[in-house]
Amino acid sequence: MASLVQLITLLIAIFSARAIVAISQPNPGCPATCGDLAIPFPFGTTDGCYLDDPFLITCNNTHYNPPKTFYGSLQVLNISLDGYMRVSGSIARDCYSQSGLLVERLRARLTSGNFFFSNTRNKFVAIGCDTVAVVEGFLGQDNAYGCVSLCDSIGSVINGSCSGTGCCQTSIPKGAGDYSVYISSRRNHSKVRDFNPCGYAFVVEQEAFSFSSLDLKDLQNRSNVSVAIDWAVGNETCEEAKINSSSYACQDVNSECYNSTNGPGYRCNCLSGYEGNPYLIGGCRDINECETLKPCDGTCQNLPGNFSCSCLKGYEGDGMKNGTGCQPKSQSRSATLLNIALGISIGLLALIVGSSWIYWIVKKRELRKLRVQFFHQNGGLMFQQKLLSHEGSIETARIFTTEDLKKATNNYDENRVIGQGGFGTVYKGVLPNNRVVAIKKSKISDQSQIEQFINEVIVLSQINHRNVVRLLGCCLETEVPLLVYEFITNGTLSDHIHDQGRGASLSWEMRLKIAAETAGAIAYLHSSISLPIIHRDIKSTNILLDDNYTTKVSDFGASKLVPVDQAQLTTLVQGTFGYLDPEYFYSSQLTEKSDVYSFGVLLAELLTGEKALSFDRPENDRNLAMYFISSMKEKRLFQILDDRLVKEENFEQLEEVAKLIRRCLRVKGEERPTMKEVAMELEGLRAMEKHPWVNADLYPQETEHLLAEIVPSNGYSDGVGNTTTSYDSMKNQLIVPSDDGR
Ligand SMILES: *[C@@H]1O[C@H](CO)[C@@H](O)[C@H](O)[C@H]1NC(C)=O
Ligand SMILES: *[C@@H]1O[C@H](CO)[C@@H](O)[C@H](O)[C@H]1NC(C)=O
Ligand SMILES: *[C@@H]1O[C@H](CO)[C@@H](O)[C@H](O)[C@H]1NC(C)=O
Ligand SMILES: *[C@@H]1O[C@H](CO)[C@@H](O)[C@H](O)[C@H]1NC(C)=O
Ligand SMILES: *[C@@H]1O[C@H](CO)[C@@H](O)[C@H](O)[C@H]1NC(C)=O
Ligand SMILES: *[C@@H]1O[C@H](CO)[C@@H](O)[C@H](O)[C@H]1NC(C)=O
Ligand SMILES: *[C@@H]1O[C@H](CO)[C@@H](O)[C@H](O)[C@H]1NC(C)=O
Ligand SMILES: *[C@@H]1O[C@H](CO)[C@@H](O)[C@H](O)[C@H]1NC(C)=O
Ligand SMILES: *[C@@H]1O[C@H](CO)[C@@H](O)[C@H](O)[C@H]1NC(C)=O
Ligand SMILES: *[C@@H]1O[C@H](CO)[C@@H](O)[C@H](O)[C@H]1NC(C)=O
Ligand SMILES: *[C@@H]1O[C@H](CO)[C@@H](O)[C@H](O)[C@H]1NC(C)=O
Repeated sequence: MASLVQLITLLIAIFSARAIVAISQPNPGCPATCGDLAIPFPFGTTDGCYLDDPFLITCNNTHYNPPKTFYGSLQVLNISLDGYMRVSGSIARDCYSQSGLLVERLRARLTSGNFFFSNTRNKFVAIGCDTVAVVEGFLGQDNAYGCVSLCDSIGSVINGSCSGTGCCQTSIPKGAGDYSVYISSRRNHSKVRDFNPCGYAFVVEQEAFSFSSLDLKDLQNRSNVSVAIDWAVGNETCEEAKINSSSYACQDVNSECYNSTNGPGYRCNCLSGYEGNPYLIGGCRDINECETLKPCDGTCQNLPGNFSCSCLKGYEGDGMKNGTGCQPKSQSRSATLLNIALGISIGLLALIVGSSWIYWIVKKRELRKLRVQFFHQNGGLMFQQKLLSHEGSIETARIFTTEDLKKATNNYDENRVIGQGGFGTVYKGVLPNNRVVAIKKSKISDQSQIEQFINEVIVLSQINHRNVVRLLGCCLETEVPLLVYEFITNGTLSDHIHDQGRGASLSWEMRLKIAAETAGAIAYLHSSISLPIIHRDIKSTNILLDDNYTTKVSDFGASKLVPVDQAQLTTLVQGTFGYLDPEYFYSSQLTEKSDVYSFGVLLAELLTGEKALSFDRPENDRNLAMYFISSMKEKRLFQILDDRLVKEENFEQLEEVAKLIRRCLRVKGEERPTMKEVAMELEGLRAMEKHPWVNADLYPQETEHLLAEIVPSNGYSDGVGNTTTSYDSMKNQLIVPSDDGR
């Protein structure tokens, strides 16, 4: 009998011993740190100290003092129980010598081992003034992401801003276990070498990096950056893991499980009111809220996971500081009677308020049902789908509710209307944070228009450029969809050119600036690495101006995202007569050159002050493009130019722009210049505008000499025979000789 009891005890002991091994708690005496770095379980450095193989950390204290911590080959900087660890990542770079030779090109590669790089904490960043950078998976994932960073002087970059000038950034995808960063330049840093000889690109934890203009020169000295890796337990969901309780990692009774959002597996958290390590039995400790929050007016009692407040004798209330707290008890009889009377009237009032409230709730519910219906009808699902397929890039656009926008526009007050047209109505609105916005309400709601509308949201939310109007968000709940934009104060370019009252205010310099900025913005759209964008409706009414006459390209309803491998798209012809590319019109083959044509017409409009299509002109000249070309051919160009522009000092520039227009308006798309080239030429002309002496031949020898020095022998030429790029560098370098160059 005794032996049976012994046997049972033994069996129990064996089973519980087994259980201890299987529940995977660390052995007592496991090292908790490596040097100064805490190594919390499930991670561990020696046998019996880590949950399973993916959590093995190496502490190298033989070769390093202080010791260094490694995860595989990665150097670990920190491990957080919030489900991520920081490791040290490397930086890709390319560097150029003063003569333009590539002297160094480093690629950056990283493999995360069992886990994935965090898509929420990391960004891909490139720094440089002539830098094209791409990040892609090198072990199977074939998605590539990238960005372009350009600038022409150190003064044009903004500290902390990575939006394409000096610094650019983009998200990385979920589920990436490895990546490789490539970097390159467009012109060997030729114009920016003095202050930016190298380009850099890397994946970095967003929190740990802030761009500074000093990085353009100095990042050379930094060899590594902090990269976040999301870790998770196993490859099951919480529910699957709980089934086998012996291997379930959320060991503490006061812990809960949540699924990983980046790859398979799950993680654990302490319940609210507890803190510590949920993976250890007894790891979640109660938080003493009475100490940490001091929440009570009266006496505070700490409870497991919570606390309670009570008032001292003679006081009443809930005791919470943020509630009614504690007030002296009311004692006199009359006060009590008064209280009763007050109570009854309050009760009655409550009844009335209550019943009208219920009525209101029922009404509201009906309204909400209707809104959900509209949301679906308005492509809400399509929108959500697109959002998912472009995940990560949509951080700027948000969804507004009907109430937000109704309030913002004072219930669509007619006084708030700032524009009206075939597309619908544009209202001026003021958001609760006093931000002034433009709200576009489309007119009809047929299916094709909804698609255009969603398209505009998707296209715009990919773009962050100072010369492109910013989309702040949209609302899909109403019968007609609504778009919310930043508010551009100064009307359209068309107003400024064709409105007699305003026209006089646009000088040649201003027009050139607007043209160059517009060209720059379109070039940016075309060269966007992830998905080039063709605007398809470039015209003067779609160019907005703000108070500083900064250009904002708008109306992306018809725009197309072009997958990189499809240079030509066959599409339904869309656009505006007068601006429409004839080649596209006849062939329906959409290419970037269609935008170049429309831009040519826009330039002609700027130069002549004439409308793109005007029935006031004789029949053959109704189309401005034809009118312009024929006038040029017959050498009577200066007769049709806007009188206000024709001054002696402008002659040469006007002629250059006219030549550029002629090239943009070529019938064959492939003979037209690219938008990038157009933008460069216009920028060159602007630079000349700023330093007219360069052109005035005051110091002929000197100028020649400098040109020879700055323009490399194979320098970029615009095809008309002018070395336009040199002007850009002159802006930065040649100011000195005009003062003391004699
Ligand atoms: C690790 O990160 C935590 C939280 O971000 C911080 O409190 C701690 O000081 C860091 N440890 C080291 C060694 O950097
Ligand atoms: C420590 O690092 C050195 C140099 O990288 C390496 O040779 C050595 O094997 C490492 N030691 C351990 C225990 O990992
Ligand atoms: C830029 O690099 C290319 C290729 O390495 C080379 O052919 C070209 O000469 C370089 N340009 C300059 C201005 O050095
Ligand atoms: C950026 O910040 C650095 C100091 O961190 C300063 O020296 C530099 O002038 C700033 N650059 C700009 C463009 O503000
Ligand atoms: C790199 O650092 C060294 C000294 O720490 C400094 O002398 C040098 O100027 C730095 N290089 C750059 C490009 O700033
Ligand atoms: C970069 O590496 C050095 C030495 O390897 C290390 O001390 C530093 O913490 C690392 N910094 C970052 C941001 O990774
Ligand atoms: C999950 O992990 C286990 C071992 O850790 C492995 O045997 C199994 O194939 C994995 N399942 C999936 C779906 O990856
Ligand atoms: C439960 O987990 C233990 C330890 O990981 C394993 O040995 C056992 O096979 C698992 N049982 C089931 C039913 O998955
Ligand atoms: C985990 O994911 C599964 C499958 O996606 C889901 O059914 C479950 O509700 C999730 N559990 C938690 C706690 O989020
Ligand atoms: C009371 O309000 C303070 C500040 O608003 C806040 O920090 C604290 O958490 C609140 N306490 C409770 C118990 O809600
Ligand atoms: C904590 O106690 C308050 C009342 O004191 C209660 O409203 C709340 O639900 C409790 N919270 C938890 C997590 O138990």
